[in-house]
Amino acid sequence: MLTLGIETSCDETAASVVSNGKKILSNIISSSLSLHKQYGGVVPEIACRAHVELIHQVTDQALSRAHVRLKDIELIAVTQGPGLVGALLVGISMAKAISLALRVPLVGVNHLKAHLYASLMGKDRAKFPFVGLVVSGGHTALVYVKNWEKWELLGQTKDDAAGEAFDKVAKILNLGYPGGPIIDRLARAVGSKKTKFPRADLGNSLDFSFSGIKTAVLYYVKDHFEGSKAQSAERKAEKQELKDSDAIKEIAAGFQEAMVDMIVKNVASACKRKRSKRVVVGGGVSKNSELRKRLLEEGRRKQIEIYLPTSKLCLDNAAMVAGLGYQLYKRGVFSSLDLTAEPNLGI
Ligand code: KG4
Ligand code: ZN
Repeated sequence: MLTLGIETSCDETAASVVSNGKKILSNIISSSLSLHKQYGGVVPEIACRAHVELIHQVTDQALSRAHVRLKDIELIAVTQGPGLVGALLVGISMAKAISLALRVPLVGVNHLKAHLYASLMGKDRAKFPFVGLVVSGGHTALVYVKNWEKWELLGQTKDDAAGEAFDKVAKILNLGYPGGPIIDRLARAVGSKKTKFPRADLGNSLDFSFSGIKTAVLYYVKDHFEGSKAQSAERKAEKQELKDSDAIKEIAAGFQEAMVDMIVKNVASACKRKRSKRVVVGGGVSKNSELRKRLLEEGRRKQIEIYLPTSKLCLDNAAMVAGLGYQLYKRGVFSSLDLTAEPNLGI
């Protein structure tokens, strides 16, 4: 069954053709990121306008790259939420129009669940149950997945999402947006010398809290580098050093290590609590090299299977939406033309 997936929840306008929920025939992603960079984050109005301008061309490209015609499509899957309401509506309107014109079924897909599906894309059969970890720019959650419809929330962030923490710390360090990939690259270059930051301790809870570490980095930078009027000449000179790569790299590496420690600890506790030997990871932060390494190490040590998305499927894309949409449709789940955007949809 040929599924056309459409994703427009944030700043990526994406369309993809996937065969039987498994084989990616095309995966087109056009990002408006460069338009947001100067603002240090995604500006909803700019993202929405870019989706309107790009959606036709991205969809056409997905079809032509897959060597199929629109009339060959048998199912339309579209991100329903969570995300920016105006952005979601562009994708949903496009999906509804195609569904109506072709008289093919439509299925609305949860973006966070689709991120987990990304790790299982191409596999013959997903093995249930599993512990799912979603670490993206807007969400951080641990779930126990019994099948594609039955999910139990085990824990979520109390404040910032993991990607948000990376982005905010990058902002503190003047590194640019999005911060995750930059911090990852700088941390990799530093070796073992890392600045120590505290980890949040939420006891036995499987929730996360990342705002404390962000504040710890902020105060560390203020204390050590930001030259106020009262500070000595040497102190001001140190501020210059913050631009110097070594100081920044050590902070980036220390922050990243703390983030990864907190995430891996909760994943291990979730596996223990649910007696699970299988973990599926998704979302933009799953691209982080240290997180991937540490999860795989943990898996080897405890004989837990770890599923990570390929690099192309870590960030927002429509292949994961088409894939999960197909699985839902096979189970009898589909949407009517009343489908509407759910900006605050939970996992
Ligand atoms: O899943 P995603 O593409 O968008 C949302 O659904 O939110 O995730 C984007 C997030 C951004 O916060 C970005 O900084 C983060 O993923 N990210 C990373 C890395 N690559 C992207 N975080 C840490 N390390 C990376 N290598
Ligand atoms: Zn996402």
